[in-house]
Amino acid sequence: PELIPGTRPKIVITRYLGPEAAALISPVDSYEVVLWPEDRSCGREWILENVPGASALVVTVVDKVFPHEILRSLQTYGTPGDNLRVVSTMSVGYEHLDVQAIASRGIKIGYTPEVLTDAVADIAVMLALMASRNVRETMQIVDQGRWPNFNWAPFLFCGPQIGSSPVSPQRTVGFIGFGRISQATLARLIPFGITDCLYTGNPQNKPDMDRDESLRQKLGLRSLRRVNLDELAIESDAVFVLAPGGPSTYHVVNETFLKKMKKTSILVNAARGSLVDSDALAQALREKWIWGAGVDVVEGEPNVTQDHPLVKEPRCAVIPHIGSATTETRVGMATLAIENAIAVLTDNPMPKELLL
Ligand code: DGY
Repeated sequence: PELIPGTRPKIVITRYLGPEAAALISPVDSYEVVLWPEDRSCGREWILENVPGASALVVTVVDKVFPHEILRSLQTYGTPGDNLRVVSTMSVGYEHLDVQAIASRGIKIGYTPEVLTDAVADIAVMLALMASRNVRETMQIVDQGRWPNFNWAPFLFCGPQIGSSPVSPQRTVGFIGFGRISQATLARLIPFGITDCLYTGNPQNKPDMDRDESLRQKLGLRSLRRVNLDELAIESDAVFVLAPGGPSTYHVVNETFLKKMKKTSILVNAARGSLVDSDALAQALREKWIWGAGVDVVEGEPNVTQDHPLVKEPRCAVIPHIGSATTETRVGMATLAIENAIAVLTDNPMPKELLL
């Protein structure tokens, strides 16, 4: 049927989200769907051009939605009820949205927590193993045909063991941020032989001692404690950065933090690049303040090339923001993003609303 703008709620979607998500909005007579047709990011201009008159805007982490876009949608269209009602992002992180500006105009925000917890926890464990077992450096040796120069030798390419052993009976992991993804990562690490866990939390939330004690017992840990950043840096054998981005966590891992870490410890960042000062981390690796690092996110991504200080460090495994990239997880995220938008347009509770 021919689409008559304005007669049906208009949904602007900045990226094709796959057949499962498309099926949710396929009854075209219910919605006017405006979809960026190309397999690359649509850019700000396209959003600005299309958001006027939209009731729902569905975006991904690469689309920024700041007051300008919101104002454009409200000014051009107009009457209450016809205005933008929901911004739905296919992500658990929301640093690309000015959530205060959006919420203050009564626009709801949808996001996709939980569906990606397992995939990101998997990659956090992978990065920890890559960082401790010299995977980047040793694969480069093979890729470059240099294996013949490195015949097996008793202590060649040895790294610290992730879990406890008779030589090191205690192994402590530290989590910066202790939400769903950290807890799923911890659960995955238990069979490796982790004995103790430390974490830092949002200072605005009180420690939940009961929760910690029951988690400790359930996982069979010797201790599980909320600590300050200093203690976490000093005591941990592996530090996992799994907290939200934004101003309050900017560069929590900096020179001071890294200098306090053990020389045999590793750092994993599967959260946002902004939490880690890349130059300080590169220096820490170069000057051997710590053993290794594994990062799925880098400040300034995707502009990270061979010249980037972290990419130049052989002890830093760098992968390009693929934490949630399993097919199953991405289908879950895409469909949830559309379901969130449709729920608002049909006056139903959103499956996952971001409440500020
Ligand atoms: C998120 O959901 O925030 C991830 O970073 C994108 O996969």
